[in-house]
Amino acid sequence: METVVSGIRSTGRLHLGNYYGAIQNFVKMQREYNCYFFIADLHSLTTHPTPADLHGNVKQVLVEYLAAGLDPEIATLYVQSDVPEVAELYLYLNMSAYLGELERSTSFKDKVRAQPDNVNAGLLTYPVLMAADIIIHRATKVPVGKDQEQHLEMARTFANRFNRMYKHEYFPEPYAFNFSNSLVKIPGLDGKGKMGKSEGEANAVYLSDEPEVIRKKVMRAVTDSGPTMDNQPKPQEIQNLFDLMKVVSSEDTYLHFDHLYNTCQVRYGDLKKQLAEDMIAATAPIREKIKSIASDGPYLRQVARHGAIKARESASKTIREVREIIGFRSF
Ligand code: TYM
Repeated sequence: METVVSGIRSTGRLHLGNYYGAIQNFVKMQREYNCYFFIADLHSLTTHPTPADLHGNVKQVLVEYLAAGLDPEIATLYVQSDVPEVAELYLYLNMSAYLGELERSTSFKDKVRAQPDNVNAGLLTYPVLMAADIIIHRATKVPVGKDQEQHLEMARTFANRFNRMYKHEYFPEPYAFNFSNSLVKIPGLDGKGKMGKSEGEANAVYLSDEPEVIRKKVMRAVTDSGPTMDNQPKPQEIQNLFDLMKVVSSEDTYLHFDHLYNTCQVRYGDLKKQLAEDMIAATAPIREKIKSIASDGPYLRQVARHGAIKARESASKTIREVREIIGFRSF
């Protein structure tokens, strides 16, 4: 059975971009593959969270994983920092990851722009840690959104380079995966980039947002003054709302508003009302479960412990073999 690995950074509540880009695929994959899903708390250290924030955010992601339908009896759910073998493999991979290629990564360049006062080495080697996360379980499929495509390409480079360097076909090549055959990018509500890209709460709809909050956010989404010609191309901010509708609404609803747009009869207020209600309906079952799971400390503890044991079994086997391949020998 093929092995699947994916993770989400522990930076707080999860939004619809995380859900449709990644988690929905996790839930579908868990019954068909040997799955490892983790909470990337080591990656979150690049932005220097306080100890209290760090733990609270890890807990939040674990709760939301479970609420969204991940089953810890089937998939292995764990916290990245509970598996120190990942950090060890990261160290080995760093020895053959080169400055030039790391500096060319788009996410690194974005971070340099976003946080010029904190361009730490962890940011630079972020794709190396990500490669370690994946190949520690020798995974071949990685369910992620479109924004992670380049990281997957780098993971393949590092895996292949290790194999070549030690003349040993040890790590398989990991590929980004989505059930729909193409990776998705869920737009935000600000009319510009993807959901979750800009800081600030208004651009993203979170799985834990209350219905009233979702209505307010969607009603404030950026729109233009409306089409003036039949079949006019949609400007970015309008296309974004239609893209969101495509994932949360029924096909009939989408086609109805698309027709109204193409015949210059669309009323954005109506479109947004419908979009908000469909987002509320899509998130309702998860929102309810988040509340009940969050208060169950003993269950969360048991899930995290069980996941760490299972993840370490697989990771320590890889590390034993990697050490052997590299040439570490005990006296
Ligand atoms: P992160 O935490 O930024 O996002 C988690 C997952 O959600 C997806 N995603 C989106 N998909 C579509 N549209 C959006 N607007 C959107 N926003 C987020 C991301 O593509 C991702 O799949 N580096 C990773 C975490 C990570 C990881 C790994 C993933 C660390 N190690 C190993 C896979 C395998 C990250 O920062 O994702």
